[in-house]
Amino acid sequence: MSLLNSFGSASLEAILEKRLARRQLIGQGLTLASGGLLAAMGVGCGSSGSKAAKTEVPPAILLKPNQGSRLGFQGVPAILDPTFDSIVVPSGYQFRPLFSWGDEVVAGAPAWQKDASDTAEAQALQAGQSHDGMIFYALDGREDRGLLVMNFEDIEPNTIHKEGVSKDAAGRRPLTQVRKEQAALGVGVIEVQRDAKGAWQQKKNSAYGRRIDLHTRMEIRGPAAGHSKLQTSEDQSGRWVKGTLNNCASSRTPWGTYLTCEENFQNYFANKDAAALARTREQKRYGIAASTSYGWETVDPRFEAEPKGGFANEANRFGWVVEIDPYDPSSTPIKHTSFGRFSHENCECALTPDGRLAFYMGDDARAEYIYKFVPKGRYDSSLGLANSRLLEEGTLYVAVCNEDGTGTWKALAFGQNGLTPENGFADQADVLINARSAADFVGATSMDRPEWVAVHPESREIYVTLTNNNKRGNGDKRQALNPANPRANNVYGHILHFKEEGNDPAAESFRWDIFLSAGDPAAADPQQRGNVQGDSFGSPDGLYIDQGGRLWICTDFDDAAPEYANIGLNQLLCADPETREVRRFLVGPKGCEITGIAHSPDKKAMFVNIQHPLLSFPASDGQSRPRSTTLVITKDDGGEIGS
Ligand code: FEO
Ligand code: CA
Ligand code: CA
Ligand code: CA
Repeated sequence: MSLLNSFGSASLEAILEKRLARRQLIGQGLTLASGGLLAAMGVGCGSSGSKAAKTEVPPAILLKPNQGSRLGFQGVPAILDPTFDSIVVPSGYQFRPLFSWGDEVVAGAPAWQKDASDTAEAQALQAGQSHDGMIFYALDGREDRGLLVMNFEDIEPNTIHKEGVSKDAAGRRPLTQVRKEQAALGVGVIEVQRDAKGAWQQKKNSAYGRRIDLHTRMEIRGPAAGHSKLQTSEDQSGRWVKGTLNNCASSRTPWGTYLTCEENFQNYFANKDAAALARTREQKRYGIAASTSYGWETVDPRFEAEPKGGFANEANRFGWVVEIDPYDPSSTPIKHTSFGRFSHENCECALTPDGRLAFYMGDDARAEYIYKFVPKGRYDSSLGLANSRLLEEGTLYVAVCNEDGTGTWKALAFGQNGLTPENGFADQADVLINARSAADFVGATSMDRPEWVAVHPESREIYVTLTNNNKRGNGDKRQALNPANPRANNVYGHILHFKEEGNDPAAESFRWDIFLSAGDPAAADPQQRGNVQGDSFGSPDGLYIDQGGRLWICTDFDDAAPEYANIGLNQLLCADPETREVRRFLVGPKGCEITGIAHSPDKKAMFVNIQHPLLSFPASDGQSRPRSTTLVITKDDGGEIGS
């Protein structure tokens, strides 16, 4: 059977056949590239670190040709039951809730209250809501002790306040509620360890425990630091900022720091001055509106993005990537402007044995773009944390995918590609603050909501989830079908695959293909059936390649949508990058999104985040408040997860 024929459109078929031919070509490249060069060099991007040695790197992937499937577990069925309030894992595996909303992060945090009566001050010391991107950092080089660093992405309005979300007759929010919501966002660092019985536990009262939220002081660095568009009445230098928000997806630098990405920042800022909003590109192009659903602007002037209040530029100080040293709770987080300003969704590093590197990024909104940042300098493991300076100078690029499977990285550099004052770009800071407009100008390829990027640590091939786009093909110019986004009303999404020219992260050209198109094989519309070999799914979001070379795919869809009736609840799947077979590994409770996968260094424990469950998980008693939760998954025989 030709899966490609299932699209049923002559033009799409032709496009996809070309994709398939190129897929085979790129696949051959993978085989050639997988001979163990990096294993010999001991180089990878997924480094774990310790206080003494932050540049420790994991073993490189050992790809064995003809070794058979990398998927060594029995897949689990889809769960179609809308009352399901637990977790399914394969036979021979077990899961355990480890860390939920309200649990201690900082030593001395008050115990979480079942009725959500915790104050903002308590929340600022406890786990926030909507656990998202997560990385494991080994402590002292040990396999059984480390730090879990994770984002708290969003507010769960159904659960956060004892009395429910409230506002007065004039629409003003109570400041006490707003402060608690602000404290529920950000990042947390916790310590975990494996006990004598082999069970992973959080170590309470850890000296590493840290909460970062909307009030944590951060330094702004890179080409836009100090620019007039980053200055406010509170920070006339434009070089520091209070906090981070809507942190989505995460990555690890080779020098052992954590990168957290500011995604939908525009949803928190309001500009009621319609004329000012219309003329302010850095607000309008990012979707800032006259009001927000959060309503913080009604009581906190920082979120009034109008000229009158002194905070017109506050929204320009969000939409960046923040670097955190997880090993030092007193360190000052750095907000890096080199990566450009957009709805960031992870920032994944590719590194060569001789220290060249690039960071790949998605901008998660409909018809937005895929970017990469190439530092000017090279990584030097002997410099440790000083490598962070690499993130301050380099070139930001945006992807253009051609119909023939080639592609170009277009530099978003002031003075190049028409990014000049005559065309409305004043300087490099202006280009970065308005990265979306710059990418529009250079003709970037509009994508179906780029979410996570995974880089194969050995081959350095790149995978990007395009989660879905129900506006594709709706007649809007930016939503026109293109070769990399060929499905109108793309409700199930797809995964793109890139290979840099010469396998060089700094290359300005690449080849690309569609790794897979997700879908429901039983869909009435042939365009929506997809071509997944194995277990079907939709809306791929989180993406992660483990040290066994397995590509893990997290899903995030509306499990009440009729299009998902046959796919059921959100899930974690595993794909073999070479055979492209997909197998379902885990299904989560009703209403949740699966995200934030991390592994212990020995690969025997997997940590997975269950974001915003709807019913009563993890208590699963039918009455408790649901809580976003980190799970730990282990194999009964103590073996490597997925093997
Ligand atoms: Fe926060 Fe695009 O996921
Ligand atoms: Ca996501
Ligand atoms: Ca998503
Ligand atoms: Ca989410």
